[in-house]
Amino acid sequence: MRYGHFDDDHREYVITRPDTPLPWINYLGSDEYFGIISNTAGGYSFVRDARLRRLTRYRYNNAPLDLGGRYLYLRDDDTGDYWSPSWQPTQGDLEEYECRHGLGYTTIASQRAGIRAETCYFVPIGETLEVWRVRLTNERPGPARVSLFGTVEFCLWDAQDDATNFQRNYSVGEVEVEDGVIYHTTEYRERRNHFAYFACSDASAGFDTSRDAFLGPYRGWDRPIAVERGAVSGSIAHGWQPMGAHQVRLELGPGETRDIIFVLGYAENPADAKFDPPGSGRVDKRRVRPVIASHLEPTVVESALVALREAWAERLGAFQVESGNVHLDRMVNTWNAYQCMVTFNLSRSASSFESGIGRGMGFRDSNQDLLGFVHMVPGRARERILDIAATQLPTGGAYHQYQPLTKRGNDAVGSGFNDDPAWLVLAVTAYARETGDLAILDEPVPYDNAPGSERPLEDHLRRAIDYTLERLGPHGLPLIGRADWNDCLNLNCFSDTPGESFQTTQNRDGGVAESVFIAGLFVLAANEMAELVDHRGDASEGARLREAAADMVASVDAHGWDGDWFRRAYDYFGEPIGSAGNDEGQIFIEPQGMCVMAGIGLADGRAVRALAAVRDRLATPHGIVLVQPAFSGYQLRLGEITSYPPGYKENAGIFCHTNPWLMIAEVLADNPLGALDYYLRINPSVREAISEVHRCEPYVYAQMIAGRDAPTHGEAKNSWLTGTAAWNYVAATQWLVGIRPELDGLRIDPRVATGGAKLRVTRRFRGATYRIVVHGSTEPGAGPARVTRLVVNGTPVEGNVAPLPSGPDVEIEVHAYPGSPAAIPA
Ligand code: GLC
Ligand code: GLC
Repeated sequence: MRYGHFDDDHREYVITRPDTPLPWINYLGSDEYFGIISNTAGGYSFVRDARLRRLTRYRYNNAPLDLGGRYLYLRDDDTGDYWSPSWQPTQGDLEEYECRHGLGYTTIASQRAGIRAETCYFVPIGETLEVWRVRLTNERPGPARVSLFGTVEFCLWDAQDDATNFQRNYSVGEVEVEDGVIYHTTEYRERRNHFAYFACSDASAGFDTSRDAFLGPYRGWDRPIAVERGAVSGSIAHGWQPMGAHQVRLELGPGETRDIIFVLGYAENPADAKFDPPGSGRVDKRRVRPVIASHLEPTVVESALVALREAWAERLGAFQVESGNVHLDRMVNTWNAYQCMVTFNLSRSASSFESGIGRGMGFRDSNQDLLGFVHMVPGRARERILDIAATQLPTGGAYHQYQPLTKRGNDAVGSGFNDDPAWLVLAVTAYARETGDLAILDEPVPYDNAPGSERPLEDHLRRAIDYTLERLGPHGLPLIGRADWNDCLNLNCFSDTPGESFQTTQNRDGGVAESVFIAGLFVLAANEMAELVDHRGDASEGARLREAAADMVASVDAHGWDGDWFRRAYDYFGEPIGSAGNDEGQIFIEPQGMCVMAGIGLADGRAVRALAAVRDRLATPHGIVLVQPAFSGYQLRLGEITSYPPGYKENAGIFCHTNPWLMIAEVLADNPLGALDYYLRINPSVREAISEVHRCEPYVYAQMIAGRDAPTHGEAKNSWLTGTAAWNYVAATQWLVGIRPELDGLRIDPRVATGGAKLRVTRRFRGATYRIVVHGSTEPGAGPARVTRLVVNGTPVEGNVAPLPSGPDVEIEVHAYPGSPAAIPA
């Protein structure tokens, strides 16, 4: 069952009923000012840091789930009837409803009692404000007298404190109202030099700033007293809950349309020029007034919206494909790329599942996210790499997380996740292949942000590699530390205290727990790094790295192979995990994907066997589960993974992040059809048809889909902020469509085709636009595709790497047969 449909031409998802299974959200903003917005206008806004600079309130885990938002009310001033044009919070019947989530904007349109409202919410590029453009049309045969109310509930900046520290907060809230603009000024009198504002293009009918006055005692957002009676009261908040409400009274002739604009924004003043006049205690508004005034102008708003659309079209233009498969095309061309940019902006901070006060930037997560956006914003990827590397510890290890506002490592979460450093290597090698900017390796970067500790980035990568080599266990495999990619495989933790964090609890010393996954990851990273240093002419370091990788492969061969698949780990006591000899947890997905991606077992048939075991034991119609059999109960020696009910999260959920590793592995093992099959199983657009089962947004990936052991098999959770976005994007673009940036050119290795039709790709690379046409064969599949002829700007080229560009345009004709790539269903 569907709750809407894709509008591919406009790059929008159109939701056609408000009662989606869960709030289906979108993101506003892409620079400093951000918001989340649901299909019923729920959500909140913040600047830079969702915890420390929260502008508006939102109540997680409420009933209904999505409460707090950019709420509007319409009131028929002749009858007293009122409703929310976004359905929430009044939930009044709407004759029409449509929400269009687009790239960086959301439009919610509805009609009731002959009054049509269409509200477009967005953040203009480069501004720290959001615009709500409300377009009202009177569809009645006669005139209409209506009131429109626009409301926000201010958060007192620190979202955590705001939700807990009531004994203070109920006394500190302050506002100013000047020229009809509401200013939220809590704590501005003391150490803050920033404030928020809420303005309206037609504020003549008045305002409220006290929530109590606007809603009325014992009333919720579903029936504010001010709306019911048709008049705000000009209240000024002193403590309690400051809010902003503007009322607009309109008379609309039949067929008449009017635009009303609301602007919610954030501004800072220099610390020594806060007040006007100085010492008055009143906010100096001289800088912000012109910003507010201009964004209340319809022409300014319209051109900002156009600029936003153009910016997204430009960004996504870095990779566009026509494969003939609508699900692959719309995910790669629009939604998956967009989700990658959202993970770049938000990391894991703010979504329907991340409260904005929980997790900072993950070291591992941020490095992987980069794989999905580096081609769209290479300059910002460079900055991100240097930020991440500056949090690296002198040991080569890493803080597991860092804070976006300070860019410092997070002591509270600590370090010792022994996979973390290797991901930095993979991020840098991906960046180097994309941009050719090897000079980044010479960039001086401090350790742990300590002034004076700067060393070239290359030194950081060397220490990252050595970090693993200096921490090998008795089988020659990397010690796991707190955990590896699987944060919940805590082999040294032994926690028996309720509620204790598995990620930060003191580990037990003296164990020898090792990770086969990190071994595979290390081989991949060391070989990629070797390629880079070879390129720089450092043959001895290249040789050292290759040798270290070869030694690691030997350890995996000797101790990481279980007979039919790769083992997962060795526990604290040196016993195998992920082995046929275990009762539960016999086979894990992660080492099958990672070891094959690192090339282990490809030459001797073990990769094919491991992949067959995955297909037999882990694959379900909804995707590949993480482990089988699921753990039925808590096991002290394994940690958090066994804390989850079977089928959820790391305990045999379909942890979507790992699925693309298997797609890539299948391609490497010459089974592109199998890869494509896995790709389509978790593709959100394919799953749109079963939205009542999947429940999360059908236009973005979720971290997890409940596995076959779960009573709710197929139900997704934790949409948007997940490494799933980057890895699926990499699998689809680089391995299925097969366009891979390399140091010396662009590899053209298409593994999907439309059975006779052409595959077309536009790829921006090293300052040029490559236009690639792959000519398919009509013959039925007889084996994997191989490029047989590559013509670059009219000249045939040996092999399948198109050389670096010599001009702005590169035209490529490819014949990819004999043999057949996976023919993909349309
Ligand atoms: C979450 C974490 C990620 C981790 C994964 C598996 O997605 O953000 O870092 O690898 O869980 O535990
Ligand atoms: C929880 C989540 C896991 C995440 C970890 C670290 O354990 O289940 O996915 O990686 O927290 O934040």
